[in-house]
Amino acid sequence: MSEKLYIFDTTLRDGEQVPGCQLNTSEKIKVAKQLELLGVDIIEAGFPVSSPGDFNSVVEISKAVTWPTICALTRAVENDITVAAEALQFAKHKRIHTGIGTSDQHIKYKFKSTRERIVEQAVAAVKFARNLVDEVEFYAEDAGRTDNEFLARVVEAAIAAGAKVINIPDTTGYCLPHEFGAKIKYLCDHVSGIENAIISTHCHNDLGMATANTVSGILNGARQVETTINGIGERAGNTSLEEIAMIVKCRNDIDLHTNINTRNIFQTSRMVANLMNMPVQANKAIVGRNAFAHSSGIHQDGVLKDVSTYEIIDPKEVGVDDNSIVLTARSGRAALNHHLQHLGIELDEAQLAEVYEKFLKLADRKKDITDEDLLVISGAQNKAHHTIKLEHLQVTSGKNMKSVACLELSISGEHFEAVSTGNGPVDAAVSALKKIIHRNMLVKEFTVQSISSGSDDIGKVHIQLECDGNVYYGFGADTDIVTASVEAYLDCINKFKR
Ligand code: KIV
Ligand code: ZN
Repeated sequence: MSEKLYIFDTTLRDGEQVPGCQLNTSEKIKVAKQLELLGVDIIEAGFPVSSPGDFNSVVEISKAVTWPTICALTRAVENDITVAAEALQFAKHKRIHTGIGTSDQHIKYKFKSTRERIVEQAVAAVKFARNLVDEVEFYAEDAGRTDNEFLARVVEAAIAAGAKVINIPDTTGYCLPHEFGAKIKYLCDHVSGIENAIISTHCHNDLGMATANTVSGILNGARQVETTINGIGERAGNTSLEEIAMIVKCRNDIDLHTNINTRNIFQTSRMVANLMNMPVQANKAIVGRNAFAHSSGIHQDGVLKDVSTYEIIDPKEVGVDDNSIVLTARSGRAALNHHLQHLGIELDEAQLAEVYEKFLKLADRKKDITDEDLLVISGAQNKAHHTIKLEHLQVTSGKNMKSVACLELSISGEHFEAVSTGNGPVDAAVSALKKIIHRNMLVKEFTVQSISSGSDDIGKVHIQLECDGNVYYGFGADTDIVTASVEAYLDCINKFKR
């Protein structure tokens, strides 16, 4: 039997740190249960000291998940560790992930400290955590840029203090694959006691090398990988779970196995993309819309002769059903539900009825209903908790005329109307909205995206608004782009602290 490669998923911690990807506790539980179904060994559920919401999510995920280890992140600070242990109290298997920056840049600029004091702090944190839980993972933040000799010293001290897993993050995504692999090998060769610990990789994708660096780490002795679904995470993201799982599965020359049930990959990918409003790029390896689409004549010809000519993975191996049912205005609820489930969306009967109504309206206007359309119409119920809702919107606009918008909102059931002109239809509608909502809002980001190519398409609007020093993320979708823009504003406004 080959050796096991442990899969540590940090979608709910590193992934969730991305602006706009924040989930509420029930959404995090949904993702955690899906990760359990996928076969993830360790779920990093959050950074409990960072907010009451994160604390609560770790508590609830610990209760909801059965067999995977639940991990909580801390800095090398006693209070962080105490809070993490408290958040993990209901976990059947628990781990504290504590650590400190070890590169000269971190020591000098972030901590204004010395190498000696960093080693002392690392040891103290691991010992403190070991008094509270059995399993402690130590991370040497920015290990990618840390001098190997010093890194080996810190790692040796952390193992002696009781760390069972040693995480070597390439925090800034700076390493080249051969360099990262050599770093892991250096630790294997120079750290006494390393045989008592598992080495973990945690690679960021700033230079597009997260997966390559992770593989290089595995080939040189790492036996745990830290990954996220769809590769989401800080800045350019983390190593994506699906890529590592399929590399280990496809490549016979890597004599390792994982616990991942790869047939659940696609569903998990879509659930995360959907809940986090973070679409998967079409050419993303393994889970992109085009990952298994052969478009050139030569490739199609080859695939028809023998699929092995251009396909190294059977799409079914990752849960992509290549004979999916085509949805049209004549499709029934069962076909719609089948599609939604395939996309990772579970609805109760009432929700399905609501989405089905929307689906029929859209199918009347649009010939080709795509998966993304379904994600948008089924995501609409995320607005169920909104107290401020758009009731009506009428906009007149055209060439050489001022746009005029007439808008009606309901706020906790009470109705308000406003009319305004503007420099274009979106400006007019937003200016009418601002006559009702008197908050100082500064637009930090506004992106409009159509889902496919037709003029009958659904438009999606992502927005970031700053209000009273806080930044809020909002999302809106509609076949009318002005309505989508107002919905995105309202999605933010509904999150404003009062
Ligand atoms: O990228 C990183 O270094 C991290 C650590 C906190 C593990 O996310
Ligand atoms: Zn990270």
